[in-house]
Amino acid sequence: MTIIQSHGHQLPEDGKKASTGAYERPVKAFMAGEEKKVRTTVLSTGETSSDKKSDATLRPESLSEYIGQSRLKTMLTMSISAARTRNEPLDHVLLYGPPGLGKTTLARVIANEMSARIHMTSGPSLERPRDIVGLVHQLEQGDVLFIDEIHRLNKVAEELLYPAIEDFVIDLTSGKGHATRTMRLPLPRFTLVGATTKAGRLSKALRDRFGFACRLEFYDLSELSLIVARTAALLSVTVDEGAVKAIASRARGTPRIANRLVRLVRDFGQFQGQNVVDEAFAIQALESYQVDAFGLDNTDRRFLEILIQHYDGGPVGIDTIAVTLGEDNETLEDVYEPFLIQAGFIQRTPRGRVATVRAYNHLGLTPTQSQQLKMDFTEVDKSSE
Ligand code: ADE
Repeated sequence: MTIIQSHGHQLPEDGKKASTGAYERPVKAFMAGEEKKVRTTVLSTGETSSDKKSDATLRPESLSEYIGQSRLKTMLTMSISAARTRNEPLDHVLLYGPPGLGKTTLARVIANEMSARIHMTSGPSLERPRDIVGLVHQLEQGDVLFIDEIHRLNKVAEELLYPAIEDFVIDLTSGKGHATRTMRLPLPRFTLVGATTKAGRLSKALRDRFGFACRLEFYDLSELSLIVARTAALLSVTVDEGAVKAIASRARGTPRIANRLVRLVRDFGQFQGQNVVDEAFAIQALESYQVDAFGLDNTDRRFLEILIQHYDGGPVGIDTIAVTLGEDNETLEDVYEPFLIQAGFIQRTPRGRVATVRAYNHLGLTPTQSQQLKMDFTEVDKSSE
């Protein structure tokens, strides 16, 4: 695969082709985006350098290989087939949802399915107008332009992009003051694939320019089990059904974590001289990394403990929890909370976060009468979902 950075440097070929071999043009990858927030445990949804390395071998290349997100896949399959029949690029696509669910993978799959090249960049790296101009200058008819963390594009970059997305033109300005001149240049028709963990942060103007806005959902146990079994096979790790289930149920609905847990179990097995991983061995391995039966780590458990023991089960604002935990509230909101909410450990209410009975049970606590009453009268806030 040819890797061309968004600033135009050519990097060497690694010779990798789309697995189906059905595409006329090689898929090109351009510079990857950075991940802002980091979690220090094995359950981080942020992409580590080991993830990056192993993802290259694990990544599905086509929609048929891509597990889960079935509604989204059905829609993409139809739209891609229609676009290909008309011999047109696909409409612009916005992919949003929590980190680690496969937005970048899906962008590559879309490019593969369209037999298109993909240019990869991220909102924060398009800082100056010339970054955008340099990037769109490289585009060819039908290319996919992937912008990760698109909510982090600055105003200037966003406004330069509008005509590029809508009318496939770019306005170049030169000179200053009275001597300012604007020149409108045509661009080839391309597909913008934007990815964000915060769709709510996108301006309405930008959001409205996408033909499709697709939300990626957490994966259920059966989908994660398929991903775990696939990854284990690709890494030549022999796992039994129980081990697959034990790993999948600790992966927080997130393929990136599932793949990382498979690698950890493999390493633990190699270290212990165990060739076949069964359920008991997988659990022992994951417990040694402090991953509990629901895939919660120490910070998640402390979040729940603070909510219940310091603040009587809530409701309490995220800022207050963040200060007590010693984490910044954005990290809690973006990295920890989505899964705690999805797995039913906390609820978001207009007055703050409230622990659920599941959280009490998980920590081996019994709610007091007043805590029980609070849970019974919780009014869930759906506005920010
Ligand atoms: N690896 C990571 N995400 C995947 C997915 N959705 N399907 C198959 N393999 C994956």
